[in-house]
Amino acid sequence: MKPTPLEQIIVAMIREDGPIPLDRYMALCLGHPVHGYYMSRDPFGPEGDFITAPEISQIFGELIGIWCAAAFQALGAPDEFHLIELGPGRGTLMSDMLRASRVMPGFRDGVRIHLVETSPALRKLQAARLGQTITWHDSLATLPDGPSIVIANEFFDALPIRQFESRNGQWMERRIGLGADDRLVIGLSAQHLDRPPGTDGDILESAPLRDDIARELGSRLAASPGVALVIDYGHAASALGDTLQAVRRHKFCSILDRPGEADLTSHVDFESLGNALRQGGALPHGPITQRQFLLSMGLEARAALLTQKAKLPERNVIGRAVERLAGENQMGNLFKVLAATSPGLPTPYPFGSP
Ligand SMILES: C[S@@+](CC[C@H](N)C(=O)[O-])C[C@H]1O[C@@H](n2cnc3c(N)ncnc32)[C@H](O)[C@@H]1O
Repeated sequence: MKPTPLEQIIVAMIREDGPIPLDRYMALCLGHPVHGYYMSRDPFGPEGDFITAPEISQIFGELIGIWCAAAFQALGAPDEFHLIELGPGRGTLMSDMLRASRVMPGFRDGVRIHLVETSPALRKLQAARLGQTITWHDSLATLPDGPSIVIANEFFDALPIRQFESRNGQWMERRIGLGADDRLVIGLSAQHLDRPPGTDGDILESAPLRDDIARELGSRLAASPGVALVIDYGHAASALGDTLQAVRRHKFCSILDRPGEADLTSHVDFESLGNALRQGGALPHGPITQRQFLLSMGLEARAALLTQKAKLPERNVIGRAVERLAGENQMGNLFKVLAATSPGLPTPYPFGSP
């Protein structure tokens, strides 16, 4: 098969400068201004490559909206506050959150919506979906000061990572280079790491951009009152292992297949994310599983209410969605939820509950 346009660019880049680390490769595959995966397409849903929780059921966003309403109260119901979403996809989560949180007096009048989104294609979908005043940002750097509630669902898993492999008593970095026929291959090059090597074949992942953004979020919460909620798939405690994956049309493929046409993600290391938030000056809470979070926030009661109002085929859809979101062998345990608050704010529900 003919190489993708992005593959041709990457091959030329490697020919010129040598093998590139995985985070550079991922950043190009996902964010190249013309050919990056997110830049020109809508990847969600049955016609796309994957589906996320807000696209599975409106209940997901509604329960997060209720969480936001409680956070707004904990912030003292400010006259004006920023509701910030990182990586908002189609805008579905924001739309469902706003519908649910507006029942809280003062929320609708005080809310200012900010979306941190790099994809022009998705910005268009978000504008169409939300149809109200929105400020977009390329990064957290331009977000205004002031009280804030920050939500990030499946944002951190899309940020580039590096991988190191233990070989013969030393860490080697995995890099993308060229094979004999100019096809992309994964190779290793020596790399000094400040930690003892593991057993041969051990994989260590690091996510410098993810940690930088979490630190930046932490310093934002240290400087102005606010809370954040991060939902993503990943592990509660740091661990070794290769979690980088590529998905195209709902199927796993090699990370080297069709660069720019497959989604690349990795598991979020929530221990590392919590540490980075703390380094920035915020207080992390959790993580708890998505199952614990959604059940505590009233998933079953909300599903029962919607089911009562629905006709038969729709009832089955609701039941399947609940199972998908919270089932122990589905997203329920794989996905984790971490909160962070400015110092001095109370631990948000349900993070302090036994
Ligand atoms: C997997 S999607 C999640 C979308 C949405 N939160 C949901 O749950 O449906 C990742 C989102 O993050 C955005 N994104 C990826 N990398 C980004 C970056 N470095 N800065 C800002 N947004 C980014 C993508 O364009 C997309 O909107």
